[in-house]
Amino acid sequence: MDKNQTTVPSEKVLNPLETMQRMGHEQLVFCNDAETGLRAIISIHNTVLGPALGGTRMWMYEREADAVMDVLRLSRGMTYKNAISNLDLGGGKAVIIGDSRTMKSEALFRRFGQFVDSLSGKYITAEDVGINPNDMVHVSKETKNVVGLPGKSGDPSPVTAYGVYMGMKACAAALRGNDSLKNLKIAVQGVGHVGRYLVQHLTAEGAELYITDIHQETLKEVAREFGAIAVDPKDIYNVAMDIYAPCALGATLNDENLEKLSCSIIAGAANNQLEDEERHGQLLMDKGIIYAPDFAINAGGVINCFSEVSGKSQEWSQQKAEEIYQTIIEILRRAAIQKVPSYKIANQMAEERLRQRGSLNA
Ligand SMILES: NC(=O)c1ccc[n+]([C@@H]2O[C@H](COP(=O)([O-])OP(=O)(O)OC[C@H]3O[C@@H](n4cnc5c(N)ncnc54)[C@H](O)[C@@H]3O)[C@@H](O)[C@H]2O)c1
Repeated sequence: MDKNQTTVPSEKVLNPLETMQRMGHEQLVFCNDAETGLRAIISIHNTVLGPALGGTRMWMYEREADAVMDVLRLSRGMTYKNAISNLDLGGGKAVIIGDSRTMKSEALFRRFGQFVDSLSGKYITAEDVGINPNDMVHVSKETKNVVGLPGKSGDPSPVTAYGVYMGMKACAAALRGNDSLKNLKIAVQGVGHVGRYLVQHLTAEGAELYITDIHQETLKEVAREFGAIAVDPKDIYNVAMDIYAPCALGATLNDENLEKLSCSIIAGAANNQLEDEERHGQLLMDKGIIYAPDFAINAGGVINCFSEVSGKSQEWSQQKAEEIYQTIIEILRRAAIQKVPSYKIANQMAEERLRQRGSLNA
């Protein structure tokens, strides 16, 4: 796996329990099934606000320690995402170690569903990278603690993309006093589920789009459909752009890439975009780049999942995702006044809600 495909920081988890203690996790569940080849990890970070909800990612991690660190970071991010979005949900996430193109089977997902079910509703799963609604249908045969099923709230990606689009407009408003994205040069990294819908919104608004994806077929197809300029994955950071929208995997805001990036706004769907939150969050501020904190801007998906858990309508989800605009405006307003990086303000706002509910272990 080269640097550009890295999904987690290079930090390894040598002592999982110690890391859980440091990051405030409640539970880490390792799942193994020789018959189906399932190797999965479920991480429950915090259930103060409600059951831990977060998607399942299927990824061919190079090392087991990478998978552990990824699921720990992703589940913690879910706690913060749900808190800042005012949802009565805790933070959790799961990873299945394997190639999503070759290793999927009904048996594997059903076995995974049994593991989810063994947690008795403390963890509710959904889709994430490498997983589609049909996979979740298999999971649902073994547990009711799954959302994002076809015919129910469905694929959360359109709502996620809409929220990212709204958040991006908020960044433009904060920078230029005008939230139009017309004629702005926007580089979208990853045109999968979310990236593609985002490209659709941005095209409709008249942005100038540069897109990339490691899957050449997807890249060509999306470029053709929307008239976007296809860029090789390794060249995306060098594009002369106004906005960088990371919509692939995390940790792309690192020393190497920040050297190359020339944008004034970073607003995208990927989770855990900052490789080292403190260091790279500060670096972005020092460089004068407006950064929409990932867990605040990409909350549309979990909003969509929450609508299913709580019996709310699709319109409610859309409306709630639109509120991401105001959330980002508020984060950037406070960051400017206090002269601190935006990620810190977003963390404070989420922690404040957790504190109000009685306990914070993060
Ligand atoms: N799906 C949602 O509703 C949702 C919600 C919140 C956050 N997210 C996050 O947004 C991101 C995208 O999610 P998705 O559902 O669209 O996933 P996806 O798997 O459908 O799409 C990701 C795309 O990125 C491409 N990609 C991977 N590595 C790349 C690289 N180095 N350079 C260029 N392209 C690369 C993949 O080929 C794929 O097409 C993820 O980080 C996910 O965790 C998704």
